[in-house]
Amino acid sequence: MAKSSNIQAVRGMNDILPQQTPTWQHVEAVARATLQDYGYQEIRMPILEKTELFKRSIGEVTDIVEKEMYTFEDRNGDSLTLRPEGTAGCVRACMEQGLLYNQVQRLWYAGPMFRHERPQKGRYRQFHQIGVEAFGMEGPDVDAEQIFMTARLWRALGLAEVRLEVNSLGSQEARAAYKAILVEYLEAHHDQLDEDSRRRLHSNPLRILDSKNPDMQALIEAAPQLADHLDTESRDHFQTLCGYLDAAGLEYRINPRLVRGLDYYSRSVFEWVTDRLGAQGTVCAGGRYDGLVGWLGGRPTPAVGFALGMERLIALLETLEAVPPPPTPHVYLVVAGEAALTQGPVLAERLRDAVPGLRLQMNCGGGSFKSQFKKADKCQAAYALILGEEEAARGEYGLKPLRETGEQRVLPEPELVNYLTEIVNQ
Ligand code: HAM
Repeated sequence: MAKSSNIQAVRGMNDILPQQTPTWQHVEAVARATLQDYGYQEIRMPILEKTELFKRSIGEVTDIVEKEMYTFEDRNGDSLTLRPEGTAGCVRACMEQGLLYNQVQRLWYAGPMFRHERPQKGRYRQFHQIGVEAFGMEGPDVDAEQIFMTARLWRALGLAEVRLEVNSLGSQEARAAYKAILVEYLEAHHDQLDEDSRRRLHSNPLRILDSKNPDMQALIEAAPQLADHLDTESRDHFQTLCGYLDAAGLEYRINPRLVRGLDYYSRSVFEWVTDRLGAQGTVCAGGRYDGLVGWLGGRPTPAVGFALGMERLIALLETLEAVPPPPTPHVYLVVAGEAALTQGPVLAERLRDAVPGLRLQMNCGGGSFKSQFKKADKCQAAYALILGEEEAARGEYGLKPLRETGEQRVLPEPELVNYLTEIVNQ
């Protein structure tokens, strides 16, 4: 029979290994605490939604909907899609569960998202976001709150080298009027457009401004600017937002070319970007989407939110060497001899009961003293706790420091408990 080949993971979908999970858990814990402090509550949505939801929210002519969704028919013939982002599902859940009626909501979610993009560093087909959405608040104060909250999160994570870029996309109407002006300008220079831009000219002309093609830059520089065509309310809204950022001393750059790749945005948009990650330098992005609830059939509800990309954030923390070391065991329990073997697991439990917070790793499966000490060393335990035959008979235990020089002590159990309590509380 032919030997079957090993099955590998789906391209662009990563395993997050035990060496990496402490960093993930650290970022998640710091984010959770920060979000909680600002009054944001967690919501958990399904990973699958009806395809229609994403078409109607993200937009039919966006890259995500046109090219990147994992869409399939289930056994009932319904078209379902693995969520490419969290905003659409969050809005759907809030509408369906009546969370938007006569109340404000501050929500967050975390989890995997799926986009069939070309995988490269910082761009994956399964990636993880922590997303934030606020509903029912119209003014720019909540936009500022979310930007301040992200800045606080970076500080709490020790993350430097991220820059804030902001822009206003105006109201849907102002943007539509501007689009017509932009299309007219681009049509007049049709011969200078690359293939991608020609394709987008009538479907999504704003994205042309986002083009990285060097040959297009002069044309883009000279294009009419959205900022000059904003409606008065959006201009005031944006100015007030910038005023909050100025007053708080938060540095930012107004980037008139920041247009975002999803259709639902209006008014303020923002991104946190870094130069340290190569081409995929946006670690966090979002903005206001006052029209979306209405598009999906709900009563018009102002909304603003953002999502941060976990893989990018973690890559940046690693690049900046801002990753805290994972916790290592206080003690590794080395067990020798038959009698000691039978007592080992019970002693470990007694110590865990007696010393709250004790990180004790027990040697399982026997082995020589030497091999057990090797394992103790490998897991970077601070001490080896030795349960030997004779000591066990006397009710005593050996405690040997592994990370610093020092003699092994032999302690009866009450003293051992006191000593371990001191170590844990150091
Ligand atoms: P987005 O800009 O599509 O916005 O994604 C937000 C962040 O997710 C990006 O800035 C990036 O860090 C990360 N990200 C996106 N695609 C990938 C990928 N293929 N691989 C790795 N990381 C990726 C949204 O998703 C909006 N729902 C954000 C939002 C929430 N706006 C309002 N509320």
